[in-house]
Amino acid sequence: MTVTLDQNVETFIGIPRKMFINGQWTDAASGKTFETPNPATGETLANIAEGDAEDINRAVKAARAAFQDGPWSRMTPSDRGRIIWRIGDLILVHAAELAQLESLDNGKPYAVALGADVPLAADLFHYMAGWATKINGQTIDISVPYMPGANFHSYTLREPIGVVGQIIPWNFPLLMAAWKLGPALTTGCTVVLKPAEQTPLTALRLAELVAEAGVPAGVVNVVPGYGETAGAALAMHPDVDKVAFTGSTEVGKLIVAAAGATNLKKLTLELGGKSPNIVFDDAEDGAIEGAANAIFFNHGQCCVAGSRLFVQESRFDEVVDGVAEIAKSIKLGSGLDPTTQMGPLVSSEQFDRVTGFLESGRIDGATALAGGGRFGDRGYFVEPTVLTNTRPDMKVVQEEIFGPVVVAEKFSSLDEIAAQANDTSYGLGAGIWTRDISKAHALAKKIRAGTVWINCYNVFDASLPFGGYKQSGWGREMGGEVLNNYTEVKAVTTLL
Ligand code: NAI
Ligand code: MG
Repeated sequence: MTVTLDQNVETFIGIPRKMFINGQWTDAASGKTFETPNPATGETLANIAEGDAEDINRAVKAARAAFQDGPWSRMTPSDRGRIIWRIGDLILVHAAELAQLESLDNGKPYAVALGADVPLAADLFHYMAGWATKINGQTIDISVPYMPGANFHSYTLREPIGVVGQIIPWNFPLLMAAWKLGPALTTGCTVVLKPAEQTPLTALRLAELVAEAGVPAGVVNVVPGYGETAGAALAMHPDVDKVAFTGSTEVGKLIVAAAGATNLKKLTLELGGKSPNIVFDDAEDGAIEGAANAIFFNHGQCCVAGSRLFVQESRFDEVVDGVAEIAKSIKLGSGLDPTTQMGPLVSSEQFDRVTGFLESGRIDGATALAGGGRFGDRGYFVEPTVLTNTRPDMKVVQEEIFGPVVVAEKFSSLDEIAAQANDTSYGLGAGIWTRDISKAHALAKKIRAGTVWINCYNVFDASLPFGGYKQSGWGREMGGEVLNNYTEVKAVTTLL
């Protein structure tokens, strides 16, 4: 497939800029729009309908009606599965266009969007399509000690949880939409999805593909807008049965409070991380490149970024210098330039945030072996950065930076590193690099995180459950595990 790398989003025929409610493209009730900028230049890409509470209300009404009366939850699982499979196919048919949109809106290299984000999104729908026909209850033999001699027939039903609000971030806009929509559709739920205000374009295009695949009106509604307005309205809505959220731990706590203050809607939360990546002295040399990929992939804008690099003493200098050399060699530029290896950060806010962390590291006495500041003088580019001479109490060591910044520290033994690795309020991911596989498994057991990678990093698959311990979140996405979070279980008992 060939694609013209066109900087101008206006050239896409029919790029939706409105919101998608009940199968219709509509303006915001207020008539307002917001700008989504190109992070490589700071210039406006498109003006998008700005949803707020009233639009969320309209979308929840449509989703409720579609859940209650519509054909989706009554369709045979096989028919539902076929439609979900078709969404995956349509994503692949439109791969180049989606990758281009993602690159323009988010800043990531086109090749990365085409090679990772888009096929992973398609695969998620293909994987979830298979589950549609495999969601079952159980029959259960019961004893009931206070009814001696009685016979029963008991079984469970697994039913869709209902209307789901989904709030997603800007780091993998299309893929996060897929992670959210896939299990909701498979289980027969209906959805109001709010994409991040920084990156609404691919979710809106996906809404079109979802409709084209045959998902009926009202089942998937997409309302772009800001978090404090549209997002908060969704979290507060009394007729939403569940919210699935991916984003900051700070906003995750606001969503918990909103659910508590309203209807105790069910929640799943995919939050921040400060993941340890641990290189033992017997690791293969590939660990150096692995450690660089763990932090620099997607410009460090990954919830699971390997942002704390721990290297065993005898190889500390070699590994950390190696990562610093890779950092210095990375070519920064616009995501649509085919020679670009790392694009800009997503927004001026993220740029300020990440450079603010770099400044605090400098003031606290950390040393930048590579990078340490802004790259160029336009767009939101930050140099890939390796910090050493850090102390555990520094902000750069404790807090999620969400940029291309790794802090490197030494460790001496297996016992010591388990405690160091777990010394964080987060628990999303971890990497372990060693030739000694028993040591790796022993450490994997001690790490309090939802994902552990051994001699690899950033390996994702639709069949692997993903989520966090501690303040990295509640529940799991993907795999069969996610289906539990989109279904209610009903126990039915008959006295025979
Ligand atoms: P955020 O958590 O504010 O935004 C994520 C999503 O939540 C967006 O769709 C946003 O519109 C929505 N949102 C914001 N405030 C809300 C509210 N009060 N109620 C309901 N929804 C709301 O993240 P932000 O501000 O874009 O980034 C700040 C930091 O959050 C990053 O530097 C990073 O550390 C972390 N983050 C983590 C992500 C992850 O994948 N775990 C993704 C994005 C950000
Ligand atoms: Mg925010």
